[in-house]
Amino acid sequence: MNVNDKEELELDLFISMVKSYFDYDFNDYSRASIKRRIKQLAVQSGVEHISELIPKVLYEENFRDVLLQSISVTVTEMFRDPSVFASIRNEVIPALMILPTVNIWHAGCATGEEVYSMAIILREAGLLQYCTIHATDFNEASLDIARQGKYPLENIKGYTKNYIAGGGICSFSDYYTVDGKWAILDPTLREQIRFYRHDLAKDEGFGMMNLILCRNVLIYFKKHLQDHVFNLFDNSLDVNSFLVIGDKETIEFSPIANSFEAFCPTCKIYRRG
Ligand SMILES: C[S@@+](CC[C@H](N)C(=O)[O-])C[C@H]1O[C@@H](n2cnc3c(N)ncnc32)[C@H](O)[C@@H]1O
Repeated sequence: MNVNDKEELELDLFISMVKSYFDYDFNDYSRASIKRRIKQLAVQSGVEHISELIPKVLYEENFRDVLLQSISVTVTEMFRDPSVFASIRNEVIPALMILPTVNIWHAGCATGEEVYSMAIILREAGLLQYCTIHATDFNEASLDIARQGKYPLENIKGYTKNYIAGGGICSFSDYYTVDGKWAILDPTLREQIRFYRHDLAKDEGFGMMNLILCRNVLIYFKKHLQDHVFNLFDNSLDVNSFLVIGDKETIEFSPIANSFEAFCPTCKIYRRG
């Protein structure tokens, strides 16, 4: 057996142990990305082989959180892909305005920047107080950051640029105060947001949503898990509701493709029939 075969075997054993012990199933994650991340975790943990991580699953108290931190790619930003937020602002929000209440789900929200971006455009449209925003991720450490709404001040220049490019109608500085090296977002933006731990691979959906955003999450999943998540969204969306996915993701070959029309194809915004 060569080194690569041994590594693959160790990875299978580790993934199987994680599934049995923590009930997280990484079998349906893109193999190359999960392997790279678990190998990095082995290096950080000071062990030579993936199999040496197995006792840590069993005996190290915080290992679940350490593992999720290693596997999660939490890269995000406010108004990421500004043209998507411009489309939501100009085309999706007017369609939501006719509803008495609006339910929104951000699945895989990471540290929350996308969720606060949405709260800002909803406030500017006068719609925020009629909305409930469910913001979920399976990484509790990221959710803790999201709940605080406190981000490095050095990021604000880029976020301001994105906000303007996404059609922002106020001054972005109206939405935060500065505390040393931190920007603290206006806490009233959080009033309609509920942050929950939620695993897209195994947990149920949230009732009838009018808009679901799941951007830059499906890209890390194999097709089988992508299809499972698309079905979950299909079952969680009301008729005439919207689904927004990431730039490199597609609904096209999924089992739900025929139930959705491309509302804004360049922005990966779909509408359920
Ligand atoms: C790159 S971030 C995307 C953040 C944001 N949606 C964006 O586009 O900027 C991917 C997020 O997906 C989350 N994630 C990965 N697998 C998940 C799962 N099975 N259930 C819930 N969240 C998951 C990760 O923890 C991470 O925070």
